[in-house]
Amino acid sequence: MGFISDEELNAIRSKANIVDVIGKYIPLTQKGKNYFCVCPFHDDHSPSMSVSYDKQIYKCFSCGASGNVFTFVQNYENVSFNEAVSIVARSVGLNLDFGPVKKNSNNFKLELEIMSLAERFLQNNLKSSSGIDAKKYLEERGINEEIIAEFGIGLSLDNATSLKDLLLKKGYGIDKLIELGVVNEHGFDVFARRITFPLWNIDGDIVGFSGRIYRNEDSAKYVNSKETKIFKKGELLYNYHNAKDYAKREKFILVVEGFMDAIRLSANGIKNVIALMGTSLTSNHIDLLKKLRVKVILCLDNDDAGLTATINNGMMLIKNNVDVGIVRLSGSKDPDEYILKNGIDSFKNLLKEPISYFEFRINSLKKNRNLNNPVELAGYINEVIDILKDVEDPILKEITINEIANNYKIDISLLKERISWEKEKIPNVKPRVEKVKHDHQDEVAMRILYYMMNDQKYVNLYKKKLGYITDEKLRIIANEILYYSGIHNKIDVADFITYMSDKDNFKVVTEIVGMNMQEELSEENMIEYITSYYRLMVKKQINDLKIQMKNEMDVNKKLEIGKRITELKKGSVEYGRN
Ligand code: CTP
Ligand code: MN
Repeated sequence: MGFISDEELNAIRSKANIVDVIGKYIPLTQKGKNYFCVCPFHDDHSPSMSVSYDKQIYKCFSCGASGNVFTFVQNYENVSFNEAVSIVARSVGLNLDFGPVKKNSNNFKLELEIMSLAERFLQNNLKSSSGIDAKKYLEERGINEEIIAEFGIGLSLDNATSLKDLLLKKGYGIDKLIELGVVNEHGFDVFARRITFPLWNIDGDIVGFSGRIYRNEDSAKYVNSKETKIFKKGELLYNYHNAKDYAKREKFILVVEGFMDAIRLSANGIKNVIALMGTSLTSNHIDLLKKLRVKVILCLDNDDAGLTATINNGMMLIKNNVDVGIVRLSGSKDPDEYILKNGIDSFKNLLKEPISYFEFRINSLKKNRNLNNPVELAGYINEVIDILKDVEDPILKEITINEIANNYKIDISLLKERISWEKEKIPNVKPRVEKVKHDHQDEVAMRILYYMMNDQKYVNLYKKKLGYITDEKLRIIANEILYYSGIHNKIDVADFITYMSDKDNFKVVTEIVGMNMQEELSEENMIEYITSYYRLMVKKQINDLKIQMKNEMDVNKKLEIGKRITELKKGSVEYGRN
């Protein structure tokens, strides 16, 4: 576990009561020995997650999520394992900071160092006398010193080799600078003559820049870093690292199109904001948003492109079971302009009443249509019906149908019929939590492992009566249990989870812990599991040998294999009697 020893981890874990920790996040109700709550790891409304005080673990009977106090915090807060440990430690009054383990900073230390040095240099340029015009431009846009500092805004000089020269002087190679997209292939600074905005990855490391023109220039408004090994546009959302905690607190995240919009909002106290930077959401972005488990409010530009982007991105989010709200602006091009014109309070009022995605879709269909014309009206109603097929909310559905029926004097049963008829044609594609299927033999082995993780006497029984599992992954887990219980002279499922958390087979371990099994098991039943596993294992071995025998040309060897099969058959019958 790196620099936190298992002993330290166990000490922290044993001080933290999982019932208290989870109870801080989600209301728990006690039923008998266990506590129950709505599982936060899948879309659910019934209490399918149980939390065991005795075992100090949680498991969801619906999606199979399971683990101990650390994995709960890790997954709920969407933080690294070490961060989760720090959070749990703090909650029990231990002020230990194991800090986040950043994936990139280890792998791309040099690259990130160059980017952050570049940023400091660019920031200095803006403060220097060469930055007077750029600064004036920013001031006119209402971007003051404080905002400049907060968002690391800088300036790339007119001299198009100044950044390159500085970085070369610091000893970095030209190839590296080109590879990072700071210098172009002709040896010039990529962002020369532009105001620069650092772009961060989700951990908050600078991985790229965007440069904006600030004089009357016949050139693209923005130039962005090219894709590099650290700058991946599909994996970052502008301001995500700053916004995520605020989003959890506010229970929503605001998504805007341009980073200037995000900067304006953040400077006005709306910190739970991220910007798409003109792209559409990738599946990676959706994962990042889903992990926050908050409502997503889209407030994209007030133009045709923004409308299309709202329709498409909103639909993608809905299909991924994200709660989506829409805010559309009027009279201004984007949130930045809107706030400068109408003030932040006016924007906050809009934000208080986002409309649902489907309401927005249905409203937007009315645009540019003459509903007095029967042909256009029919087209409109058909499109509304098309959208209503995807609407889950029965109330919204009912309201919309009633509205159409009343407004346009259409028989309500006809509308309802159309919707249910269309719905039947289209299979419900709501994503379900997928559980891995195991063959019967592995399933039995997993049951054995389940009870081994919960009771030392079954570890001993396994050692004595079985000692081997055919499937490699499961066998490794069995060996880890033996190893763990050998060191600690006991097995404790919650601590075993911690012990396994940085190992390859961790997912399988949590899958086993999450199995829906009877709590108590008699020794006879365990012996039955072991016996039946043994027979399945031998059966498989015999089958393998039969195939081998069939393919064997050498008569003697064939006989030998036959003998081995007979022995195995005999042994299997006798097994369980001793
Ligand atoms: N964009 C880009 N290249 C362009 C135009 C836009 O990369 N030529 C990206 C930028 O990341 C920008 C986003 O698309 O943040 C939204 O574009 P736009 O709405 O045009 O930018 P604004 O935020 O309005 O920028 P400004 O107010 O500075 O004009
Ligand atoms: Mn703008």
